[in-house]
Order: sequence, then C-alpha cells, then structure tokens
Amino acid sequence: MKRIALLTAGGDTPALNATLHGAVVRANQLQIEVYGLIKGYNSLFNPRVPHVHLNPLFREIPELDATQGGTILGASRDYVDPEDHEELGKIYDRLKQLQVDGLICVGGDGTLNGLQPISEHFNSVLAPKTIDNDLGLNYLSEAQEWVREPQDEAPGYRYRHTRRLVDFDLEYMVNYTTPGYATAVYDVSMDVKRIRTTAESHRRIAIVEVMGRHSGYIALGAAYGQPDIILIPESPIDEGVLIERVKEIYGLQKNVVIVCGEGIVDDSGAVLGETLQTTDPAGNIQFSGAAEALRRLLINGIGDDFFISKRRGDSAEATIFTRKVGHTQRGGRPILFDRFYASQLGGKAVDMLLEGQNNTVSILQWNREDGFYLDSIEANMLRDQWGHIHARLLHPSFYNPEGLRPSRMGVEYLLPIFTTALGHDDVEYIRCTLFDSGNLLRPYHSVNVDMAKRIRYLA
Ligand code: F6P
Repeated sequence: MKRIALLTAGGDTPALNATLHGAVVRANQLQIEVYGLIKGYNSLFNPRVPHVHLNPLFREIPELDATQGGTILGASRDYVDPEDHEELGKIYDRLKQLQVDGLICVGGDGTLNGLQPISEHFNSVLAPKTIDNDLGLNYLSEAQEWVREPQDEAPGYRYRHTRRLVDFDLEYMVNYTTPGYATAVYDVSMDVKRIRTTAESHRRIAIVEVMGRHSGYIALGAAYGQPDIILIPESPIDEGVLIERVKEIYGLQKNVVIVCGEGIVDDSGAVLGETLQTTDPAGNIQFSGAAEALRRLLINGIGDDFFISKRRGDSAEATIFTRKVGHTQRGGRPILFDRFYASQLGGKAVDMLLEGQNNTVSILQWNREDGFYLDSIEANMLRDQWGHIHARLLHPSFYNPEGLRPSRMGVEYLLPIFTTALGHDDVEYIRCTLFDSGNLLRPYHSVNVDMAKRIRYLA
C-alpha cells in the first residue's frame, strides 16, 4: 500500500484530529502517503476532489494537532446514496485518479452507511467517532433484535427494539465507548456543577438539556456533575413520579438540577420537544426544545401555589429555567482519554487496511483483566436484518427509572472510562492559556486559513 485517503464525516467531535494524527503516525511508520479529503464525503462529489497531503516526506503537517478539537479536514453530513450508481461510478473513478489504495472514514453510523456502497468496489474502513456514544452494540446479537412495524406515514414502517437477552455483562459490549464521548461528558458535568450554585443561590429549578439523540449516554455521564435527576430518552417519563420527586427534592434543598437528553419521551413514547427531519440520509432526526417542553410540564404540573408557599411569592415560571448545553459539547480540546484512544483507533484503521480488511470498523473493547484494547468488527455485525444501523441505546440495566439516576451497573460502566480520563496537562492547559494576555491582543488564527493553502485538486 503506497497511499491512502482519510476523511471525517458527520457531526464533529473534539477527538477527530487525534484520530487523524494516530492514522498519520502509523502511516509514517509504514511509509504510506496520506491524503486528507476536505469536508467528508462532499470532497468525493466534487470532480476536483479537494485534498491535502497530510504527511509529505512521511512527516505530519504541523496543522495536525491531536490536542485541538474539531477536524482540520472539515466535516459535512453529505452521504453517498447507494442507489445513485452513476455518482458512485464517478466516486470510484476519482479515488482511482487520486491513486489511493484504501479509504479511512472517521465517523459514526451515518458515515458507516455511506461507506457501505463505496466498499463494494474500494477498500474502505471506519474509525469511530461520536459524542453520542451510540456507535456499537451492548452485546453481539443486539442488532438482530430490531423489528419493523407498519405505519401509515412514509416510509410505511417504523423500527422497534425488542430486547431478548436478559443476561448482560459489560464485557459483552461491542465498542465500549467512542472518541468524543468522554470530552462531551466532561463539558456537560462542568456545566451541571456551575448551574447548581446559581440554582442554589436563587432557589431555582434548572433543567439542563444535553445531546445524544435517542441515546442517553451523555445524560448518564452527566451524573459526574451530581444533578438530582437524570432523564434519558430510553425511559419514558412518568409525569406523576417526576413531579412528586421534584417537589420532594425542592422541599428539602430549595433547588433542583435536572439533566435531560434531547430525545426524552412521554409515557406514550412521543418525543417531548419537537423533531425535524434533517437532510441526512442516515435518517437522523433533529431534536429541539426538550428542556422547554419539560419546563412547561413542570410549571403546569407543580403549579404556582407550591412555589408561592416555598419562595416568598415567586411563580413556577420564575422558578424553573432551562439551559441547553448545545455545541460546546462537541467542541474544544479533547481530554486525555479521547486523545489517547482516538489516536489508537486511527492507527488501527491503517493496520486494518494493510491487512486487506474492507467494510470493517476499528473498535475499543474492554474487559476486567486487560482494561481497554483495540479490535475490529465487520460493519455487517452492526446492521439489522434490513441492513440498517441503529443508534446504540443505553442498556436498561444502566438506569434506575425509580431513582431517576444511573443504576449500579450504569456506574460500573462509567468508571473505566472516566476514573483516569483527565490528564494533568488538561488542567494545566487551562491554567496556562485561558488568561494569557496575548489572547486580548492577537486575533484568533483559524487553522482553516493554513489548511486552505495546502489544498490541492485533481487536474
Ligand atoms: O450526532 C451528534 C449530534 O451532536 C447529536 O447529539 C445532535 O443531536 C446532533 O449531532 C446535532 O447536529 P447539528 O450539529 O447538525 O446541530
């Protein structure tokens, strides 16, 4: 193998550059040239295929810094339509013109779906990323447990997960965790702690909305910020239970902090906020307004009288506020855990191509004896019987629906990831750089400016 291509697709994470770095370091050792394709699959739709040589003379370009969040290659949610054979033909041709022998896509489930048709004619593998931590399986047979049920609206069916396995062990997990997740949880936990002191001072109820679509992993990890209540999309809200719990906690400590996943549902299974279909062919739904909807539910359910008696006259409206953590979860410097394992997974993807693997995924496994270790899996193992890849849902044993918090198993799941996830340098970095007086004088220098000078095109 003389030359390979790399791209980053889907929503970004703080660990993408670390994955690129790991792949380039390994390629340098093997004397393989690496071309980075600009803006995910989008580059392959462009006849000129914008790309950057990431390791001239088998040395990494200085712009590629594993400690920087985002991706120097840019990302997009453009995916390859498997039915568009004409476009696919052009893509194979463009990859041939680039003279690359393999492709590594850094991405999540949508990226893996996009990789499938390319892999039919071109050696391609995936290195995982997603802050949602939903790429993988709780156990190997999980993908086969999805059923399709008819529905009136397009596409005429909907998926439902029927869980068959009763026995579960953390060692069964396929891709225990994904680069990006640890940093997102770090950000959210810090946020929850900050919200707490203001809620405490003003006798308020704070609702903090976190990302994760259908998966409650980020909400689960937010437990490190010690919220009073965690609501995850996998566990429908029992209004009565929730309202009583909020009143009880408020009565005791005069403030409540609630973390909710953006995809939380009511007891009929309907999403609490609003959903918008995105243009993403992976079928990803965009959620908005979960925290606001939850606020309304609490305002109506608890009523003013309760707060007037406890808060010297303030209404429910004035007491309950929301905060959406938003895209800071996806941005910024990756913490040690993410940097380290993202790099390893990038390097592993290069080895997989070298071994002749195709349509496979580099994964991070865990067992009690060895801790984390690298492996790879056929992409098909993640697909249901119709070929669809579903977001990994939080295993029910991770959550305590009565206590509205992580269960003992949920806590055990988090420990291997987070106990040593922060490095000394992560803390030192903040101390050294945040109040650097130069920040006040120098304008921000975007890496995109430097990368633009390196972009090459096919003739
Ligand atoms: O999949 C990653 C993710 O960050 C989700 O948690 C979130 O719902 C979505 O992407 C947000 O997408 P966008 O960046 O397009 O707003």
